[in-house]
Amino acid sequence: MMNHSAKAKPNGLKNSLREPFQGFGLGLRPRHYNSFLAQPQAVDWLEVISENYMVQGGKPLAMLDRIRADYPIAMHGVSMSIGSVSPLDHGYLQRLKALADRIQPMWVSDHLCWTGVHGTNLHDLFPLPYTEEALRHVAARVREVQETLGRRLVLENVSSYIDYASSEMSEWAFLTALAEEADCLLLLDVNNIYVSGMNHGFDPRDFIDGVPAHRIQQIHVAGHSNLGDVIIDTHDAPVPDEVFDLYAYACRRFGPVSTMIERDDSIPPLEDLIVELDRVRAVAARHTPVWDREEAFA
Ligand SMILES: [Fe+2]
Repeated sequence: MMNHSAKAKPNGLKNSLREPFQGFGLGLRPRHYNSFLAQPQAVDWLEVISENYMVQGGKPLAMLDRIRADYPIAMHGVSMSIGSVSPLDHGYLQRLKALADRIQPMWVSDHLCWTGVHGTNLHDLFPLPYTEEALRHVAARVREVQETLGRRLVLENVSSYIDYASSEMSEWAFLTALAEEADCLLLLDVNNIYVSGMNHGFDPRDFIDGVPAHRIQQIHVAGHSNLGDVIIDTHDAPVPDEVFDLYAYACRRFGPVSTMIERDDSIPPLEDLIVELDRVRAVAARHTPVWDREEAFA
């Protein structure tokens, strides 16, 4: 029997800005369209890659319209390039907004990174130097995007293999300052935290301890490839034990956060991902603090 003081939420979660907890999801991939349309699946919500549906008509959009009727959707973009020094692409933002208006997602996310400059898209997610100058630059751009979209943007931490000699603060201090300055939300990729921690020699738990709990909207878990001297964020393998351990740590710190498995390559049958998602649910149920567990997992 718990007493009332043990059930009280920590101060960090008072006045939470998060959307309500939505449970456990998967990335929607074309190979699974028919499985989702054929019968109800044990998946609470789906995340789509925004750019794949920012088109007029076509089969993917038709599929999404049908699947949207049965599942809440989160939109996840890969090419906003919020950290670039090139001007924001307003045509892109208008197409993004049109898709959001169409499918009414739970939230819209992209990555804290830059993907190119001077009109060239390098098709990769590059980290920023964590400086005061970069902070002011990105915060102004996030506010501009939020004004266009009419909603808070959710930004994800990327994995990285290099860092900048000019950085003045940790990645988690930068994310925290940005979230407060721009009044945006965060998508924590626990695998990316693990990969960056191993590559740069920081303790991934320091990252999780250092970000604001009341702004953590979503969590990604994923697999990676360990090449010995470097770990690559490949998203082509099941979630490994070390990422589950870090996810358990995140559950203890943040309480219930909508979580999904991000699998981008070597995509297995949907049934296999649902078995893996059951493990995610079990870890969350075991490690979520008592003050939120009854509410979230009733
Ligand atoms: Fe991710």
